[in-house]
Amino acid sequence: MDKQVLISPSILSADFANMQRDIERLQSWGADLIHCDVMDGNFVPNITFGMPMVAAISKVAALPLDVHLMIDKPEKYIDAFIDSGANILTFHPEASNKPLDALKRIRERGVKSGIVLNPNIDFFDWAHLAPYCDIILIMSVYAGFGRQKFIEQTYGKIQAIKGYLVKEGLDLLLEIDGGVNEQNSAKLIAHGIDILVAGSAIFKSDNPARTIANLKKY
Ligand code: DX5
Ligand code: ZN
Repeated sequence: MDKQVLISPSILSADFANMQRDIERLQSWGADLIHCDVMDGNFVPNITFGMPMVAAISKVAALPLDVHLMIDKPEKYIDAFIDSGANILTFHPEASNKPLDALKRIRERGVKSGIVLNPNIDFFDWAHLAPYCDIILIMSVYAGFGRQKFIEQTYGKIQAIKGYLVKEGLDLLLEIDGGVNEQNSAKLIAHGIDILVAGSAIFKSDNPARTIANLKKY
């Protein structure tokens, strides 16, 4: 029970017209990070927001910003998102022409780096990048939309990745995103997850502070 589990609520489920209010609420509810889902309408079909929104959130947020890029050629925008206040910056490696350079650049700027693996992406095709990652973000739905159903096969993938990291002596954090709720969080933590992203489970809860506390239990 000594492991520290972090909760990173996804503001995709927040009220965009009341973003400052919702950020302040998240902080009072006990969130640890703020998960910002950036979608470009190209890498994923949906469009959300870009650097100006991240910069605006950074001005009012006390918590670190966990920025998940679902965009083509993320390497082009790394400095811009870091200048906007990203504290963690993750991207999908298949969207990048230069994923290794991108990871190196993120770290060079003093920001936590990571790759994101969609359900159909094999970690072992990208395992060579792991030494350059602080975090691996495992998608338990296909990136693009909130409120999707958790894909059960994700547990096996977490186990395989965790086993590899232990074998290689790589000490990095595992983050999970998509369909996370109070019913599956303890099992995810037992499988080695350190950071839980949750959007709808928190924003649709009738007691979000209790939900955040329950998500950390295992
Ligand atoms: C999906 C996003 C998620 C999403 C999670 O593309 O990356 O962060 O907002 O939402 P829920 O928790 O509702 O599945
Ligand atoms: Zn996300």
